[in-house]
Amino acid sequence: KFEQILIPTRREFCACCTKAAGLLAVGAAAGCGGSPTGPSSDAQSLPSVSATVSGRTVSVAVGGTSPLASSGGMAMTQTSLGTFLLARTAATSATALTATCTHEGCTINGASGSQFVCPCHGSTFTTSGSVVKGPANRSLQQFTAQVDGDTLTFTA
Ligand code: FES
Repeated sequence: KFEQILIPTRREFCACCTKAAGLLAVGAAAGCGGSPTGPSSDAQSLPSVSATVSGRTVSVAVGGTSPLASSGGMAMTQTSLGTFLLARTAATSATALTATCTHEGCTINGASGSQFVCPCHGSTFTTSGSVVKGPANRSLQQFTAQVDGDTLTFTA
């Protein structure tokens, strides 16, 4: 009939907050334990979708909950033929691009708005592969893609 009270050891002071309170009047507390917003771009990671490869033909399911189910959707897919960027441009059309950046060969894996973004030096490309912002100065290789029903296909 007694309560066991666990007394936590109080060694884990928030050094950051203690310092902030003691030394700095303004602004420091905002950086304590929070996630600072850096100057990095606002690119989002592209969703990855699975694909099947037959010869040089790549097929991707784009129905249902696929990020490519509706116009404006963007995704990437890794295949035995390489990594590709995909964009749904309309009900029956899409684009497929190599994900290899024409600047120094990084794999493009982000998007901002309706543009693909390279993580290495921030080059951006349209969904047709044209350069919007360097340092890349050459378009991404594009492959002719089509959407038939719920399947997107292109020949790599
Ligand atoms: Fe893509 Fe440099 S490798 S921007």
